[in-house]
Amino acid sequence: MNKTQFIKDLKDKDTVSAPFLVKFSAVAVGKNGKPYMNLILMDKTGEVEARLWEDVQQHIGQAVKDSYINVEGRCQTYQGRRQVVINRLQLLREDEVDSKDFVAEGTLDAEALYATLLGHIESMKDPHYKALAEAIFRDDLEIADKMKRAPAAKTLHHAYRTGLLEHVLSITTTLEALAVHYGKHLNRDLLLLGGFLHDIGKLWELSFERVIDYTTEGKLIGHLVMGTELIDRKVRELDAQPGRLPSPFPVDKQLLIKHVILAHHGQLEYGSPKRPKCLEALVVHMIDDLDSKMNSISTFIEQDLTTGQWTGLNRQYERFFFKPEWAQPKALTQEYT
Ligand SMILES: [Fe+2]
Ligand SMILES: [Fe+2]
Repeated sequence: MNKTQFIKDLKDKDTVSAPFLVKFSAVAVGKNGKPYMNLILMDKTGEVEARLWEDVQQHIGQAVKDSYINVEGRCQTYQGRRQVVINRLQLLREDEVDSKDFVAEGTLDAEALYATLLGHIESMKDPHYKALAEAIFRDDLEIADKMKRAPAAKTLHHAYRTGLLEHVLSITTTLEALAVHYGKHLNRDLLLLGGFLHDIGKLWELSFERVIDYTTEGKLIGHLVMGTELIDRKVRELDAQPGRLPSPFPVDKQLLIKHVILAHHGQLEYGSPKRPKCLEALVVHMIDDLDSKMNSISTFIEQDLTTGQWTGLNRQYERFFFKPEWAQPKALTQEYT
């Protein structure tokens, strides 16, 4: 089924006739006591709320999270937000749709990005840190495959396919520069390895084949601890391979890289069990924070539809943002140039 209608283009009173991916689905009871279905539909351009008021019982098992459905209905504005009122809903098979229409992708080429990552690893000098990075990113094909596809988050930043790799490479460029600038006080290899690995647990914390969501392991353990578990496993494997390391993996180096991972959220209340207690952990935390904010705020400004020089309210940051020239619609900026 060809998808020609996309969520970003839906306007009030538009007739809707297109396939969507179900991001969320729940049944609620209206004021009149009748059940209705409350859905969030998505495609690669965004999300929209939807309601089904009729024949709810027969659709409950169909329009579940992660399913593709064809929707016929109408777009309307309700309390300032777009909402699709569904008249007809039909479940689609996976082979009836092109999955690329439904999941947001980064604009950069995953294979090229991954080659860049391996190039950074090649430049490392410390034999233990380098062997650990190679064991994880070069030799483990499951990790390489996931790393090329994983988003960096469910919603907050880089929440699209290959977003994690983009995020990791973006901070690596900055970490490289800081390793030179503060050369005397920073171990470049620990710093880079911390950048590569700080979010590696997200490969298993999130499921991202269709809708991005937390896995049970992600909810119960979380990506910081899952990252340290991976280090334990990989160090054990390296130590067991004759000739792979010049000496057994030193305990201090294991503790430091685990600390960089555990401390990267910076504060106890943001999920780090330890605050940064070495300079590399401090720098990884601050650059990670900067990079995620740069991505989430610039995306918010780009997608904001409010006319004029200020965005609508950003609830996450509790403020309005100034819209610079790059965020203005073309016709508007041309008047001034
Ligand atoms: Fe993180
Ligand atoms: Fe991160």
